Amino acid sequence: MAVGTYLLGIDVGTTGTKALLIDDAGSVVGSSTSDYPMLTPRALWAEQNPRDWWAATVKAVRHVLQSVDPRRIVGVGLTGQMHGLVALDAHGSVLRPCIMWNDQRTGSQCAAITRQIGEHRLLDLIGNPVLPGFTAPKLLWVRENEPDVYQRIARVLLPKDYLRYRLTGVFATEVSDASGTALFDVQHRRWSEEMLSALEIPRAWLPDCYESPVVSAQISREAADELGLIQGTPVVGGGGDQAAQAVGSGIVSEGIVSVTLGTSGVVFASCQSYRREPEGRLHAFCHAIPNTWHLMGVMLSAAGSFRWFRDALGERELSEARTSGADVYDILTAEAESAPAGSEGLIFLPYLTGERTPYPDPDARGVYFGLTLRHQKAHLIRAVLEGVAYGLRDSLELMRELGITISQVRASGGGARSALWRQILADVFGTEIALVNVTEGAAYGAALLAGVGAGLYHDVPGACARTIRVVDQVAPGENARIYADYYPIYRSLYPSLASQFKAVSAVASRHA
Ligand code: XUL
Repeated sequence: MAVGTYLLGIDVGTTGTKALLIDDAGSVVGSSTSDYPMLTPRALWAEQNPRDWWAATVKAVRHVLQSVDPRRIVGVGLTGQMHGLVALDAHGSVLRPCIMWNDQRTGSQCAAITRQIGEHRLLDLIGNPVLPGFTAPKLLWVRENEPDVYQRIARVLLPKDYLRYRLTGVFATEVSDASGTALFDVQHRRWSEEMLSALEIPRAWLPDCYESPVVSAQISREAADELGLIQGTPVVGGGGDQAAQAVGSGIVSEGIVSVTLGTSGVVFASCQSYRREPEGRLHAFCHAIPNTWHLMGVMLSAAGSFRWFRDALGERELSEARTSGADVYDILTAEAESAPAGSEGLIFLPYLTGERTPYPDPDARGVYFGLTLRHQKAHLIRAVLEGVAYGLRDSLELMRELGITISQVRASGGGARSALWRQILADVFGTEIALVNVTEGAAYGAALLAGVGAGLYHDVPGACARTIRVVDQVAPGENARIYADYYPIYRSLYPSLASQFKAVSAVASRHA
């Protein structure tokens, strides 16, 4: 392996684009992020301007290239926010802002598709139900609401694939991101002709679909000039952010599962064969590894619940943090430690922004259940950490029911920095919780995929084995018994409250 060989990963995230350079041994040699806004022209809408992604990419890549000679970069890997709709006209110009993964405007289109095709047939065709964040219902929304835009569409791309187009001039995607469009036959790893014809979406709009570590295109002369890269550098398929993040944590074989504690919480399991949850409660998508799939559960407010607590009830801790320079979450976590496991019967439901897995319910709400006079702030904080762990366990249980063995859970994301939270996860899940050396997330996984495409590594598991290792582990302890008693109560609360959630949402929106 050549000394001084580098790989570039680019992640088009929700808040900014990150460019990450690693060397062939996996050490980070440069990282730069450039931010852009998210537009919310109406409640529940979320849009971004693809030109902002491009400007941020140019800035981040140019910045990161200051540290190396671009001739030594042997491959580029792309990743990013999934599900977004980027519509281009026949000249490759952007027709309207991207409708993003967290946009909720397409409820009626999802219902119409489900009625037309049938719930079970949908699971057979695309492995998943059609959810409002997915791409297909957004295309239908544009057809119904912006017919002048719709009739000019010539190409439909996902966010990272728009970057590929700007970097290489080539229209292409790969299997992991295509899985989140609701137009993709996940089991057979190809576009679903039946979905396309049922929804009357022309096949010609969709890009060719590659496996993630395969070279899809080369950097064009124009992009090379603008970014400071070298013309002809190969660009591999890459991956949706969750699949790439999993590669970047070494989640590449069955038995090792990841839990990401970001604003949302994601439970991700790699599968050697195609499997789906009978009711579609877990996402069943292609993994960024040929012939491999993954199952995924998404909790909408994981570390986001902790942030809510900080902002709503953590004024004292915030001001203490400002004075002492300590991290406010460390202060809150230390306080939580003084409450006993199980928070003396206080249970928190983390559905602060509705929920996706296992309850796809936009009306679900957060709840503190079981308050008594004994409960102090420490209990309230601890209950949030525990409630998020119970909610994530719901996804793990669905995976266990499908026969997936879970020998180790690797935690990542901001929330995984807390030793207390990691211990609570170990106790609630009844599994070891590990931390790995890599904390760069999806951009790192994309860079490893580029390394496979460039021939630096034999395959994706080989790339991970060379670069990723466990640096910390905690085992379930004494408290596991206490959580085993509380978990069934947690699990019974949503079904008991589901109709009241709907009722309160209806009343609240009437009086808004
Ligand atoms: C995955 C998902 C998010 C987005 C944005 O299904 O919705 O991970 O990709 O990060």
